[in-house]
Amino acid sequence: MQIGSCELDGNLALAPMAGVTDPAFRLVCLKAGAAFAVGEMAASGSHLQETEMTRRRYACDARERFPVVQILGADPVEMARAAERAQASGAAMVDVNFGCPARVVCGKACGSAIMREPQLAGKILRAVASAVTIPVSVKMRTGWDAATKTAVPIAQMAQDAGFSLVTVHGRTRSERFSGSVNAADIAEVVRAVSLPVLANGDAATPAKALALLRETGAAGVMIGRAACGNPWIFSRTRALLAGRPDPGEPAAREVRETVFHHLALLFEGEALDAPGREAWLVRTFRKHLMQYLRGFCPQGTDGRARLSAMLRLEARAALEDALEEFFRQVPETAVRMTDGCRR
Ligand SMILES: Cc1cc2nc3c(=O)[nH]c(=O)nc-3n(C[C@H](O)[C@H](O)[C@H](O)COP(=O)(O)O)c2cc1C
Repeated sequence: MQIGSCELDGNLALAPMAGVTDPAFRLVCLKAGAAFAVGEMAASGSHLQETEMTRRRYACDARERFPVVQILGADPVEMARAAERAQASGAAMVDVNFGCPARVVCGKACGSAIMREPQLAGKILRAVASAVTIPVSVKMRTGWDAATKTAVPIAQMAQDAGFSLVTVHGRTRSERFSGSVNAADIAEVVRAVSLPVLANGDAATPAKALALLRETGAAGVMIGRAACGNPWIFSRTRALLAGRPDPGEPAAREVRETVFHHLALLFEGEALDAPGREAWLVRTFRKHLMQYLRGFCPQGTDGRARLSAMLRLEARAALEDALEEFFRQVPETAVRMTDGCRR
């Protein structure tokens, strides 16, 4: 897929997910075949106190071929400054968040609340585009609610402002994550602009990602929740896109290697003498671990008790020992059985 003057390897992207798409997970998904991965939303606004979290969200890892920083805010001037900061941090693209449905975000008139205000949306888009020289993109919902579907005019404003990419999650804000994605609404945006559009929402399996691509006519698919603890969704979907058969779920040996690799990336460069940092990192890893190990669940009360004990650990060494023990109980060639569990 082409974004600006950059030719990316493939047309599948990892969706930004606050609390999930940290640098370690992004690198794991890129290795598995994502063309690019969007970081967790980073706040704009000079009035905001600079926190360690904000600093980390703007930081770019040179190993990401095409690092993308997503910015959030409602003030065009502050959003322009945020875009400049992302560019200065080494981002290859800045993504504007018009999609977050969280009450705390919409309460500050940010995220998907901006879908209610096309005029403000236009000002933000123009300010961001003129602040940087790198490509800019916007991720939006289809609108605020069924009566306020504004994705088409806002995507057109993005195009007029010089944006290089639009991503549409096929739900309104009022739908949050309920019901199913409206592919027809995404397709309408695809038809209304000449920019590449990524379709997003409910691509829970490789077959569903392919179906979303076909139903919308989008240039690519952005995958979020289904990638958590499951980076193979990228390699498997790529196989289908290339006309090859789906290689299927990974075997235990591959899952083990990826789990340890992900854990090592998560701890890279961390100052573990900082109080509570190690436990925080291990806790962060749990949401991935649960998904990585789903489908290998050891049978019987004993197995389940061992698994839940592992998910309560807070020290890296203890977790690694427990993981070694876990994988000793599973034949290396056993195939994970989770596709049936994914929506
Ligand atoms: C835990 C979580 C955090 C999210 N954080 C963000 C975010 O920071 N920025 C954003 O634009 N969307 C965010 N989203 C929305 C996702 O990027 C995506 O649009 C949504 O999950 C639908 O795609 P999916 O069905 O493939 O998960 C988040 C979603 C989840 C589940």
